[in-house]
Amino acid sequence: MNDIIKTINNRKSLRKFSEKEIKIEEEKAIIQSALRAPTAGNLMLYSMIVIKNKEILKKLSVSCDNQPFIASAKMAIIFLSDYQRLCDYFEMSNVKEYRDNNNLSYDYPELSDLLLGTEDAITAVQNTVIAAESIDIGSCYFGDIIENYEFHRNY
Ligand SMILES: Cc1cc2nc3c(=O)[nH]c(=O)nc-3n(C[C@H](O)[C@H](O)[C@H](O)COP(=O)(O)O)c2cc1C
Repeated sequence: MNDIIKTINNRKSLRKFSEKEIKIEEEKAIIQSALRAPTAGNLMLYSMIVIKNKEILKKLSVSCDNQPFIASAKMAIIFLSDYQRLCDYFEMSNVKEYRDNNNLSYDYPELSDLLLGTEDAITAVQNTVIAAESIDIGSCYFGDIIENYEFHRNY
């Protein structure tokens, strides 16, 4: 087996983390790996929020279904399906005006694009956990951001 397949097979969710800090070059390598994931139509309909602030990690550990392991992590990354990015792109590029002027049909971004963004985000997450694993940084998904989005969006 090559090293990539070994890394994929060795990865498992970790919920207890060492005190070792994540070096800045490790963080950059992980984020760069996320950004290299394929995205639908190359639209990159997602955003990443990197959280290293201990207070916020602690709050997340409570608001995300009381999972203490989140507070003990050195870093969390929230991946968001970012439908707004496509709406902004349409606005800034005057897509509607161009289509109207050229007698072309016009489809504004719709709900299915939100799902595309979700797929983009999940694809990037998996690159992230594999990249982290490959440099000995354990990880665990946590999925309760949406359930409490009214609370989280005010952070
Ligand atoms: C979308 C998603 C959400 C998850 N949410 C949580 C979570 O909130 N807390 C947790 O401890 N594990 C979470 N997990 C991790 C799964 O429980 C874990 O991947 C699964 O049990 C298989 O174990 P493994 O990753 O060690 O192979 C999540 C995984 C995925 C893919």
